Amino acid sequence: MSDFVTIILAAGKGTRMKSKLPKVLHKAGGKAMVQQVLDAAKAAGAKRQIVVTGFGGERVREALEQLGEQAEFVTQEQQLGTGHAVKMTAPLLKDEQGTVMVLCGDTPLLTSELLKKLFDEHVAAKAKATVLTAVMPDATGYGRIIRKADGSVEKIVEHKDATEEERKVREVNSGIYCFDAQALFASLEHVTNDNAQGEYYLPDVLEILQKQGEKIWAVAADDYEETLGVNSRAQLANAERILRQRKNEELMAEGVSIIDPATTFVDSDVVVGRDTVLYPMTYLESGTVIGENCEIGPSVRIQNTKIGNGVTGQFLYAHDAVVDDNVKLGQFVHLRPGTHICEGVKIDNFIEVKNSTIGKGSKLPHLSYIGDCDMGENVNMGCGTITVNYDGKKKFRTKIGNNAFVGCNSNLVAPVTVEDGAYIAAGSTITTTVPANSLAVGRARQKNITGWVDKRNR
Ligand code: UD1
Ligand code: MG
Repeated sequence: MSDFVTIILAAGKGTRMKSKLPKVLHKAGGKAMVQQVLDAAKAAGAKRQIVVTGFGGERVREALEQLGEQAEFVTQEQQLGTGHAVKMTAPLLKDEQGTVMVLCGDTPLLTSELLKKLFDEHVAAKAKATVLTAVMPDATGYGRIIRKADGSVEKIVEHKDATEEERKVREVNSGIYCFDAQALFASLEHVTNDNAQGEYYLPDVLEILQKQGEKIWAVAADDYEETLGVNSRAQLANAERILRQRKNEELMAEGVSIIDPATTFVDSDVVVGRDTVLYPMTYLESGTVIGENCEIGPSVRIQNTKIGNGVTGQFLYAHDAVVDDNVKLGQFVHLRPGTHICEGVKIDNFIEVKNSTIGKGSKLPHLSYIGDCDMGENVNMGCGTITVNYDGKKKFRTKIGNNAFVGCNSNLVAPVTVEDGAYIAAGSTITTTVPANSLAVGRARQKNITGWVDKRNR
């Protein structure tokens, strides 16, 4: 069988985070930590995932359900230890004949490759239990892997229960394991809380199985960093840094140029095409896709936005928007939700666009607010033109036809339509339809009063 079930332990309070938010919902790499774990396990072959929650369980469940995660949830009312937490899933897994992988919800650095390796080696070794181990520079606080003279695993001893000699061991229990499901639940019946912390320890299962003559296996992670858990804000920032570095290296290996990886922040799920250059102070956040041959940054924040090929964007904030090929954006542009910028558009200097479509080849060069607008192709919006979309109670749409020319500093008071090829004189306030190919002048005519200044100064 090449698939497995996971149990993800996430009932702990996360006291050291000093947060009202359950620890596993804190984000690293743009995703809740528990979601990073679920994703890695899914990519490694998990067919069914069970999350054990306790503190803030409802919030964890709601957050994951909102994201469309297909996980199941079990509540552990009292946190009596990791063995007790796993036991809570027994009713759901009593008929499970295959492999159960136990993980923690606060280890966002795990990769699917490492989990796949753990599973494959567990299966190949035909072991009843396999523990993922890591060699730590400082093993303080971790459970130590105690091996027999022949190198096989004898047991795991928690730091607080360990002898001086055992504490010298730097190979530790990562808290991640594969078990034969039936052996796991049978052994958990024999786990007691007779230890320094008065808890039911999951790692005790290994010693129980070992004493029964069953095969216990260990897989060592090449890089201990992957197994690091997050218990504090400082560790969260460290995980974020590692994820960022990993993502940047992955992008560069795929043909993306990053001028300064130290100041480029790309969330795990973001896609960037080849020969795109990312300039410093660029933030590409969850849900974002960038095409090929783009120049993004400096100073850009893009969230959940699809960007085509050959786009340049600098000093820009875009969220929940779509930008087609060969668009020029910025400097100082704000694209708000519901915006679709079509091919070849130029949007420059201090422009905000919200819930609008800007048709192919249109130009918005300076100082505009475009909200709730359906703009056609090759429209020229003069400097300072504004859609007046809100009457204090309701929002209305503005329609601008193809090839329209809107003079500088015009107000288009919605609902209003400017038809194809129409011109609007600078400084106009437009309140009714401008027919196709007509000129609208919506302002008072200029009057010069000769000698006025002389009269005033008299
Ligand atoms: C555990 C291991 C230790 C290992 C370390 C790796 C045990 C007894 N020890 O220690 O060998 O080196 O992880 O990080 O398992 N949890 C529950 N319910 C509980 C208790 C814990 O869901 O009743 C969850 C926590 O939320 C956490 C995970 O289990 O996600 C690990 O628990 P924690 O208390 O952090 O165990 P450690 O002392 O770190
Ligand atoms: Mg821990």
